[in-house]
Amino acid sequence: MPNTGSSCTETSASQGPPLWLLAELTYRCPLQCPYCSNPLDFAQYKTELSTSEWIDVFTQARALGAAQLGFSGGEPLVREDLVELIAAARDLGYYTNLISSGMGLTQAKLEAFRDAGLDHIQISFQASDEQVNNLLAGSRKAFEQKLAMARAVKAAGYPMVLNFVTHRHNIDQIERIIELCLALEADFVELATCQYYGWAHLNRAGLLPTKAQLDHAEAVTNRYRAQLEAEGHPCKLIFVTPDYYEERPKGCMNGWGNIFLSITPDGTALPCHSARQLPVSFPSVKEHSLSHIWYDSFGFNRFRGYDWMPEPCRSCDEKERDFGGCRCQAYMLTGDASQADPVCSKSPHHHKILAARAEAEQPQPPIEALTFRNERTSRIICKG
Ligand code: FES
Repeated sequence: MPNTGSSCTETSASQGPPLWLLAELTYRCPLQCPYCSNPLDFAQYKTELSTSEWIDVFTQARALGAAQLGFSGGEPLVREDLVELIAAARDLGYYTNLISSGMGLTQAKLEAFRDAGLDHIQISFQASDEQVNNLLAGSRKAFEQKLAMARAVKAAGYPMVLNFVTHRHNIDQIERIIELCLALEADFVELATCQYYGWAHLNRAGLLPTKAQLDHAEAVTNRYRAQLEAEGHPCKLIFVTPDYYEERPKGCMNGWGNIFLSITPDGTALPCHSARQLPVSFPSVKEHSLSHIWYDSFGFNRFRGYDWMPEPCRSCDEKERDFGGCRCQAYMLTGDASQADPVCSKSPHHHKILAARAEAEQPQPPIEALTFRNERTSRIICKG
């Protein structure tokens, strides 16, 4: 049972409802991306909520006020009840989004998702060429399948949203990545430079691009964006810079336990997708109502408000904008989740970010040397 005592001054009286529900339906996945944000020890969490347990979670979250529901994983397509879950979510009035690698998607499934009322599908790619894509995905068929399914998503009338996680091994292909997206008639393209959580953090030295690589990619994206806008082209390019090249932290999750609620495959409720690694007790939907979890549990209140903050955040005039940054990043880099996110140049730990940038300037081993996300490796990590 989680500790439900709260050390924070923010109370349920001042806290608004969750708006965004992320349902991590499963940790199972046919791919092995070395930058996956799932926990390193995912192999030890075998149980998954049943169909009726998920629908109960959706119902409770909707009653609290949640309006957007993302289905993610792992690969959510491996859940055989996905159509049923989509239909239930749609009946409850959610705007639904499937976040998928496209592996396991078929024309028939796509039609079933449409009939069930799915609003939005995002397909992720690893690279713009088959060889690098498949090497990163750990699958020889991945690229071909993704191309076919991206086209099928478009043909089914969905807005096509493509996601490329970029890093030092594919970021120099940015021009080809954008050209591929235009050839696929993408409506939105997220060029998201890898953020370092889970497996990506484990592989950070081998993934972080150099400053020159990042600057080049951003310049190319800006050039394409200007060109597309001038032509009145419908495709929108979104470029996400990695935290490691910022001087101020992001307001992660728009504030801890503020609008975002994530449920892991086994029913653990988290204020963000990475919080499972923190030395904080988080409640399970199998033991508590979502209302209790959201408003009253220790885990969700742990970093709400400002009273938990040590210096330099406590007296910082930017704290209401960035909330001290990301708690998970603070924990991963300092061992203390209440520290200022070291991304911030005011943090006494900012030198760790500078050291990572310096490391990125050094030659790094090839893709094959990265640690790929799979059950076997996860089990070895669990045994520690
Ligand atoms: Fe957990 Fe930022 S990812 S607080």
